[in-house]
Amino acid sequence: METEKEIVGSQKQQLAKLFEESLRAAFPDVSDVQSLIAICNDAKHGDYQCNNAMSLWNKLKGKGTQFKGPQPVGKAIIENLPASEMIEKCSIAGPGFVNIELARQWIANSLQKMLIDGIETWAPKLPVKRTVVDFSSPNIAKEMHVGHLRSTIIGDTLARMLEFSNVEVLRRNHVGDWGTQFGMLIEFLFDQFPNWEADSTPAIGDLEGFYKASKQRFDSDADFKERAQKAVVSLQGGEEKYRKAWAQICEISRKEFQKVYERLGVHLEEKGESFYNPYIPKALELLNEKGLIEESEGARVIFIEGKKIPLIVVKRDGGFNYASTDLTALWYRLNEEKADWMIYVTDVGQREHFEMFFSAAKRAGWLPSNEKDYPKVSHVGFGLVLGEDGKRFRTRSTEVVKLVDLLDEAKSRCKLALVERGKAKEWTAEELEQTAEAVGYGAVKYADLKNNRSTNYTFNFDQMLSDKGNTAVYLLYAHARICSIIRKSGRDIQDLKKSGAIDLAHPDERMLGLHLLQFAEIVEEACTNLLPNLVCEYLYNISEDFTRFYTNCQVVGSAEETSRLLLCEATAVVMRKCFHLLGITPVYKI
Ligand code: ARG
Repeated sequence: METEKEIVGSQKQQLAKLFEESLRAAFPDVSDVQSLIAICNDAKHGDYQCNNAMSLWNKLKGKGTQFKGPQPVGKAIIENLPASEMIEKCSIAGPGFVNIELARQWIANSLQKMLIDGIETWAPKLPVKRTVVDFSSPNIAKEMHVGHLRSTIIGDTLARMLEFSNVEVLRRNHVGDWGTQFGMLIEFLFDQFPNWEADSTPAIGDLEGFYKASKQRFDSDADFKERAQKAVVSLQGGEEKYRKAWAQICEISRKEFQKVYERLGVHLEEKGESFYNPYIPKALELLNEKGLIEESEGARVIFIEGKKIPLIVVKRDGGFNYASTDLTALWYRLNEEKADWMIYVTDVGQREHFEMFFSAAKRAGWLPSNEKDYPKVSHVGFGLVLGEDGKRFRTRSTEVVKLVDLLDEAKSRCKLALVERGKAKEWTAEELEQTAEAVGYGAVKYADLKNNRSTNYTFNFDQMLSDKGNTAVYLLYAHARICSIIRKSGRDIQDLKKSGAIDLAHPDERMLGLHLLQFAEIVEEACTNLLPNLVCEYLYNISEDFTRFYTNCQVVGSAEETSRLLLCEATAVVMRKCFHLLGITPVYKI
């Protein structure tokens, strides 16, 4: 019978548990101390450290304690540690820092256990059950631009990391499919395509051009403008013909968006702005009952502490807006979907909007006043994508870049590079195609994710597609090389997992092993702080550790062959999981 595979949690979490036991035993009078475990800044001193002594000393001193300073406090922490195979030894440094050296055998055993039980047993434990990740969210009939591409890539990675951590994720595409512009679009559709109803998708072709033309008409033709305004009322009143036209326009956009999602392998569930529209009056009523909504210059608004301009929730003409929809969506996510963490991925330019409606929700008591408590909301803001000229990224012709073209170019450049390296002769056409896709799309994603998301980054094909430096191409090749080492050894890795043992005698082996084990805490931190770049940085460091190990330790044909092949395998497994979290498809040969 197969037993349930236990999720062990990160090393930090495991150490924290041990040290909390020690703290409870050594200082029974000090209630509720959480152990402070960190990676050692200087690897010479140890692998981890426990930083509790100083603050404990500050609590104890002057209260008739037996301790004479932070050093003896640190010593007591060490003496009260429960026996564990995990720790080789501890030592005291400075004002009571406890340096921890992990046991080599324990590191080796943990790696081997992971190889057998799967890397899922290394998933971090997070204090949330269900999250909403609101990402991508382009606007119907408008261009899906590089900002939406960033939102799609970052949001998908956050969702993947949370899913890996056993959190349920509602992947929400909050598309802009509602608003007054639809009156104009519908009326223009009636004008330009009198047969629109017979045709399930009228040949509008370029919806963006259609939008621009209808806007031009709206601004120049008073009669058309009036019809457009009436069309909004008919649409919002639910009139069949208008609903149908609206649905057709949305469908055309949706098909365009889907082309991008398909290339990127991103899955989303659409609940657009229109979905929340029927719930708005009720949500606003709840806010009104709390006395939050006031009249201001004919509009209905919520005043926010520290902000001069209030949040408008009902416009002067009685219509709802972006903020009324977002407040309502938040109400829905909290009460109907019962999510405990709402994550919104947009450019930093929208920060004010999020701050405002988050504050309103706090005032209403929908969210706790302490930001650390759940349910929680987070705005994940990101910077601009820049072109070589340092300005907002555009193609040669000042037009915004079409995302599909951009992705296709990444792929075709990769394909060309592979052909130049003679792969067209070595591989099947399908292999060539799949590798070009994995590397090309992977490169675009990685170039975006490796930066701290709040900074702007420059889009540069040559840089992101280079096989040197911190790029997806370099990392994918590094992974493929490890796979080829294992393949060429002629040994059966599945057998080795069971019969062989890992030994980390060489310092470069131990270092690689230790860092592989840090996978869970990196993912934990990346989830907690919503920073995918931490996973990129980790992945790159692992590949560097591997290079050092492989340069200094002979693998195939050495006395340590079995152990070292298993270490290669563990590296490949961790790298693959990182790729998976970043939405990058790994390649196995180059
Ligand atoms: N449609 C918006 C835009 O393109 C993004 C929506 C983000 N999500 C939200 N709940 N406001 O800027």
